Amino acid sequence: MNPLTFTVAPGGCLRGRLRVPGDKSISHRAIMFGALAEGVTTVDGFLEGEDCLATLGAFRAMGARIDGPERGRVVVHGVGLHGLRAPAGPLDMGNSGTSMRLLSGILAGQAFDTVLTGDASLTRRPMRRVTEPLARMGAKIETAERGTAPLRICGGQRLTGIDYALPVASAQVKSCLLLAGLYAEGATRITEPAPTRDHTERMLEGFGYPLRRESDRMFAVAGGGRLVGTPLDIPADISSSAFFLVGASIAPGSNLVLEHVGVNPTRDGVISILRLMGADIELLNPRLAGGEPVADLRVRHAPLRGIRIPEELVPLAIDEFPAIFIAAACAEGETLLTGAGELRVKESDRIQAMADGLTALGVSAEPAADGMTIRGGALSGGTVDSHGDHRIAMSFAIAALRAGDAIRIRDCANVNTSFPGFVASARATGLAIRELN
Ligand code: S3P
Repeated sequence: MNPLTFTVAPGGCLRGRLRVPGDKSISHRAIMFGALAEGVTTVDGFLEGEDCLATLGAFRAMGARIDGPERGRVVVHGVGLHGLRAPAGPLDMGNSGTSMRLLSGILAGQAFDTVLTGDASLTRRPMRRVTEPLARMGAKIETAERGTAPLRICGGQRLTGIDYALPVASAQVKSCLLLAGLYAEGATRITEPAPTRDHTERMLEGFGYPLRRESDRMFAVAGGGRLVGTPLDIPADISSSAFFLVGASIAPGSNLVLEHVGVNPTRDGVISILRLMGADIELLNPRLAGGEPVADLRVRHAPLRGIRIPEELVPLAIDEFPAIFIAAACAEGETLLTGAGELRVKESDRIQAMADGLTALGVSAEPAADGMTIRGGALSGGTVDSHGDHRIAMSFAIAALRAGDAIRIRDCANVNTSFPGFVASARATGLAIRELN
């Protein structure tokens, strides 16, 4: 366990203006697409968090020249779809599931062998969801016994397009297969059980690659095309904004504007869910930035009530449930989440980790296989464990706004995977948070 601990004094409110760092999902894809394109891709608003830096490091290790990052700017000199070179050793993806799953699709189509590995959390996460459909396309990938990393990917295989219905709603699996499809003979056609984030589809189009959208849940690409480098402007991450949306909603006196937030309709479930609970969130100045919808979000304190969360919103808010659970703990009445079993295989088991932490703070939280029931009530202070999960750590930090006493959160170093500067941003807007090593 990493010794970094957050200590947050109780009470206060969030006020002012804040631009949180760039979107993690889009930042990963910006490096991948930029490296595989022909020509130069200039990226602004890149997230300089450890997960995206792992993706950047992998492409550097495979011969792509990448300048920066420097204050969010990265210049990627594309090598073309067939221009990558064998790396000198295994590619370490750290804590990042997105890097590992999307890269396995790209690497399955290369002429050389690669090994993908990661930290203790990532090497426990399920990878058969990508290796099985990739094998159907003709890829050769060995996993550890339980279908986990390290992944040994054999190059030089001939890939063929498949028609594949995803068993789980996962943008990572969809994206992995679409990327492998760029190297396959014929069409690769993916059907999702429910819409998930569509950044890969948008980026394919932005880089000039033909994508057939057969419905809002069905897409196809054919191999043999080319990507052309393009400038990208990455919006602030709605997933990082979520902690502040919840914090300002639960803390009386709050009035906060979050600037230039990505509000892609496949990502905005947190806004819908909080509004159903009674939150006061306004979208100001909606606009497009680099092919993605963006707005400034004004959030003011409002009394929240418990709800039954509509299951169709789950994939649209999949990373925001730790923060939403804090909103539920501060709401009047009961909140019920179902249809969210995927939360058990994220950076931690987020259902168990949040249930344990809420219970430690005196809130009634009953975990289920695919969700949780939370009864809103007073939060005490206490000590909780983030299990090395960035989003669990930041969610409990925000909870202190409504706690009776200080909250101590253990094992917080991984906050840097998605939100470098979280402590400074939280302090600047009103949270009494300190880091202890
Ligand atoms: C992501 C997709 C989601 C999400 C992850 C990022 C992406 O995972 O949880 O943080 O960038 O495609 P799943 O697609 O596995 O749900």
